[in-house]
Amino acid sequence: MSGVEELLLSCIRDVPDHPEPGVVFKDITPLLADPAAFAALTDALAGISVRTGATKIVGLEARGFILGAPVAVRAGLGFIPVRKAGKLPGATLSQAYDLEYGSAEIEVHAEDLNAGDRVLVVDDVLATGGTAEASLRLIRRAGAEVAGVAVLMELGFLGGRARLEPSLDGAPLEALLAL
Ligand code: PRP
Ligand code: MG
Repeated sequence: MSGVEELLLSCIRDVPDHPEPGVVFKDITPLLADPAAFAALTDALAGISVRTGATKIVGLEARGFILGAPVAVRAGLGFIPVRKAGKLPGATLSQAYDLEYGSAEIEVHAEDLNAGDRVLVVDDVLATGGTAEASLRLIRRAGAEVAGVAVLMELGFLGGRARLEPSLDGAPLEALLAL
C-alpha cells in the first residue's frame, strides 16, 4: 500500500451499526477535516482526470460534491452536479435506478453535458454500483462520452464493479482504496 493510500485509509472511520444494525458505515468526515489528507485525495483524483482525458467532472450528490468540486478546480475543469430528483431548477434529464429496497432518481441539467464532453464521475464510495450506473446513463443520454469513474473507496463485497462493468464500455473504474 502506498503512503497516500495509508494516509487516506487512516482517516476513514468505521461506524458500526449505522445507518442500521449490521452495517459498518465508512465515515469520511475525519479525512475532510485533515487538510493534508484532503489535498492528497484531491490530487489523486485530479491525476485520474488528467490520465483519462476528462474535460468535465460530474459529482454525485451529496458526498461526490465534496470530493468532486475541488478536483474540478485543481484540474481546471468544469464541475457538473448530478442531484437527487427535484433539486435542479432548469430542464433536466432524469434517471431512476433500483436500490436494495425501493428506488431512487437522479438528475442533471440537460444543457450542462453535450457531445464532445468527456466526463469523469467522482464519488466517495462504490457500493452496489447503482448510483454510478445511473449517472453513466445520464451522461450518455446527454450525448457526452464517459471518461471513467473515480471513487475514494470500493466496497468489493457488494459487487459494484461487476454491475458497473457493462455501462463503463471500456472506460476505467478507479478506486483509490479497495475495501
Ligand atoms: C452513498 C455514497 C454513494 C452511493 C453508493 O450515497 O455516497 O453515492 O451511496 O451506493 P451504491 O453504489 O450502492 O449506489 P447516499 O446517497 O447514500 O448518501 P450521500 O447523499 O451522503 O452521498
Ligand atoms: Mg452519495
